[in-house]
Amino acid sequence: MARWTAADVPDQSGRIAVVTGANAGLGLETARVLAARGATVVLACRDTAKAEAIPGACVVELDLASLASIRAAAETIRSTCPRLDLLINNAGVMNVPFQHTEDGFELTFGTNHLGHFAFTGLLLEQLLRTAGSRVVTVTSNAHRRGRLDVDQEYDAGAAYDRSKLANLLFAYELQHRLEAVGGTTASLAAHPGNARTDLWRTSSRLERVLIGRALRPVNFWLAQDARRGALPQLRAATDKSARGGECYGPDGWFQYAGSPVKVRTSPSSYDREAAKRLWTLSEQLTEVSYPVTA
Ligand SMILES: NC(=O)c1ccc[n+]([C@@H]2O[C@H](COP(=O)([O-])OP(=O)(O)OC[C@H]3O[C@@H](n4cnc5c(N)ncnc54)[C@H](OP(=O)(O)O)[C@@H]3O)[C@@H](O)[C@H]2O)c1
Repeated sequence: MARWTAADVPDQSGRIAVVTGANAGLGLETARVLAARGATVVLACRDTAKAEAIPGACVVELDLASLASIRAAAETIRSTCPRLDLLINNAGVMNVPFQHTEDGFELTFGTNHLGHFAFTGLLLEQLLRTAGSRVVTVTSNAHRRGRLDVDQEYDAGAAYDRSKLANLLFAYELQHRLEAVGGTTASLAAHPGNARTDLWRTSSRLERVLIGRALRPVNFWLAQDARRGALPQLRAATDKSARGGECYGPDGWFQYAGSPVKVRTSPSSYDREAAKRLWTLSEQLTEVSYPVTA
C-alpha cells in the first residue's frame, strides 16, 4: 500500500480545527497542513506572540498549566466557533524540573494530561454537535515505561512517561464513553516516534546528538523531522478510514520513525479499570465533568 503523506489529507474546507501547542514543533506542522487543506485553524497557544501567522488561522491564548486559562480559552472557542470538527491535544512538556501548575498539580502531568482532560471536557458539547468530529490526543513511545501508581521522589523522565500513558488511557476511555452515547464524535491517539523538535532541549547531550540533524544519514531509523513526525496525528485526525479508539504512529523499527500507520500500544494503555480510575481522579482534580459517562 502507498505510504500516507500530507498530500493524503482530504479537503478540510468549512471545517474548524483547534490545535494546542500550535506555535512550535509538531503542532505548528499540523496546523500548517490543516490550514493548507482549507481548515480554519485555531492555534491554542501559551505564548501567543510566538504563534506564526498562518493563512486561515487565528490565535487563542491557552496555558494548559492553568485551569482559569483553560476555562477562558474554551469559552472563547465556544462563543466564536460555530462548530468544532477537530481538537488536537498536542501541546506538551518533557524533562522539566519539579514544579507545580497554577492549581498545584505536578507540572508534566498537569500540563500534558490534566490540562487536556479539562480542555476537551469543556469543548465536548460543541464537538458532539459537529457531525464526524474527532479528538486526537498526542502520546509518545515513552508511555510504554509509564506507571500511574508511582509514589517516589520526583523523576522528570518518569513524570513524562506517566503523563503519556495517561494521554492514551484518556483517549481510549473517551472513545468508550462516546460510543456509549452514540453520535459520530471519535477519540483517537497518535504519536510521532522521535521527531526533531524543541521538546528535546532539556534532554541529555547524548540524546540530542543521537536524534540530531547532523546524523541524519545514519539515524534515519531513529528519528525524523517535525514534518514527518506530525503525520501520525494528521492521519488520525483526517484519514476517512481511521476509527475511534485507534492509535497512529510510525511504521519503522520500534515505531521510532517512518510512515504513519495504525499501531498497537502497551498492554497497560488498554487497562479499562485504570482508565476509569484516572478519569474519576481527573474529574475531581480539574472540577470538569463530562457530558458522557462510562
Ligand atoms: N518530538 C518528539 O520526539 C516527541 C516524541 C513523542 C511525543 N511527542 C509529543 O508531541 C507533542 C508535541 O511536542 P513537540 O515535539 O512538538 O514539542 P515542542 O516543539 O517543544 O512543542 C511543544 C508545544 O507545547 C506547548 N506547551 C508547553 N507547555 C504548554 C502549556 N502550559 N500550555 C500551552 N502550551 C504549552 C509549547 O508552547 P510554548 O512555546 O509556550 O512553550 C509548544 O507549542 C507533545 O505532546 C509531546 O509529548 C513528541
